[in-house]
Amino acid sequence: MHNYSVWSLLAIAIFIIIFHKKLFIIIIHRVKRYTKSNKTISLLPLGNLGWPYIGETLEYISSAYTHSPESFMDKRRHMYGKVFKSHIFGSPTIISTDAEVNRSILQSDAKTFVPFYPKSLTELMGKSSILLINGSLQRRIHGLIGSFFKSPHIKARITHDMKKYVQKSMDNWQENCPVYIQHQAKNIAFQVLVKALIGLDGGEKLDILKINFQEFIAGLMSLPINFPGTTLYRSLQAKKRMVKLIQNIIQEKREKNIMSTVNEDVADVLLNDTSKELTDELISDNMIDFMIPGEDSVPVLITLAIKYLSDSPLALQQLTEENMTLKRLKEKQGETLVWSDYLSLPFTQNVISETLRLGNIIIGVMRKSVKDVEIKGYLIPKGWCTFVYFRSVHLDDNHYDFPHQFNPWRWQSKDTNNCNFTPFGGGQRLCPGLDLARLEASIFLHHFTTQFKWVAEEDSIINFPTVRMKKGMPVWIKRRETKQYIY
Ligand code: HEM
Repeated sequence: MHNYSVWSLLAIAIFIIIFHKKLFIIIIHRVKRYTKSNKTISLLPLGNLGWPYIGETLEYISSAYTHSPESFMDKRRHMYGKVFKSHIFGSPTIISTDAEVNRSILQSDAKTFVPFYPKSLTELMGKSSILLINGSLQRRIHGLIGSFFKSPHIKARITHDMKKYVQKSMDNWQENCPVYIQHQAKNIAFQVLVKALIGLDGGEKLDILKINFQEFIAGLMSLPINFPGTTLYRSLQAKKRMVKLIQNIIQEKREKNIMSTVNEDVADVLLNDTSKELTDELISDNMIDFMIPGEDSVPVLITLAIKYLSDSPLALQQLTEENMTLKRLKEKQGETLVWSDYLSLPFTQNVISETLRLGNIIIGVMRKSVKDVEIKGYLIPKGWCTFVYFRSVHLDDNHYDFPHQFNPWRWQSKDTNNCNFTPFGGGQRLCPGLDLARLEASIFLHHFTTQFKWVAEEDSIINFPTVRMKKGMPVWIKRRETKQYIY
């Protein structure tokens, strides 16, 4: 027993020596780097790097699980200002909750900042993923997808598909059991996304893709350990199966010689690109990478909008009236709704903007600095991570009165085009799917509110690791008596 204690003490002592030696080296390294001139010392943002290795990660995660995940940031903003240093997820990190600093970082090019993702994610994405690549290739792919989703022809096609999938889903809803909005929205949005990306419209291939995609995304938040049996391994295998399926579709497209026809999906756009930079392998890999930001975000936007509306009867009433008026007008004119009709309703758009602000579906984005950078008097040292944190900006009472309240009316006198509102990021990596996201949410809200009344069950929002509803947003529906109009 005595020997055992001695050995334990010895082991602890050795651990402390090694641990502190490493800590000592880290400190010396930093001091050396930042004492080159007095000026640089004063520029490094204030803050605390926490414990060696783990830094402040545990505190960050435990606050992320609460209903106010920004409390980690708020505490530090209060102590150190809107930009501060920390150490989370294994890297020293500058966290910016300042709208102007965020804008500068988002506007920077790859000579200053490059995207940063956890290791498990980069392994799953692959080297040529649009989410990771920089420079002219990223700009080219980004530009091609962005203008594709902006084209009126595609908006019309997506509107047609979305209406079809929404109606099919809503026709199956029962009044005597709850409808889980999150699940329904996910199902609909996945079909729209896959059709828009590779032109698959239902069928066995879609089912295979769906099953494999679920397996694939499970690995995005896993430990970066890759051998048979681990989540990451299973996830990589699922990606391989998806790539194979998509490669076959691309091959079929090549055989049909789609080059001469109109682009009907993103795969067509990339295949028809004349630059010769986009190989079939790069295209099929990227199809899956487009699904990562697209698959979950739109259903969450729809679900949160329903949640906030359920809790805000006045907003729900105004939104329903606006959509009912449009529906009656179209019925009277004997016309169907086109994409621009859905986007023409100002209050519905304000509800979507407010949901994006309050819901913070993407809380922020990570970058790594490729050189020492100075922004607004702060130094971001080379090689550090930068967490461009949107959530604190969206909930800052200097920018928004009563920021925790769902208030769509605030957008009547506010422009969504400013640096205090960045749900879709900004700069060269501004989300190319933003038009698609707004359109899908508008269509869902229109058909849901004009066809149903509902009572929502008690449910709460979970913010980590991704935003979602705890129970999936169950609602009890009642069909409205008005006749359905032509689709
Ligand atoms: C509510 C819905 C959505 C939100 C809140 C959202 C948010 C974002 C944000 C914040 C970024 C910037 C990432 C960065 O700067 O590193 C981004 C990028 C991106 N988004 Fe979205 N997104 C949404 C829907 C979609 C959809 C439907 C698609 C599908 C096509 C999509 C595809 C992409 C792609 C491909 C990028 C990477 C662009 C690049 O790095 O060049 N997103 N999104």
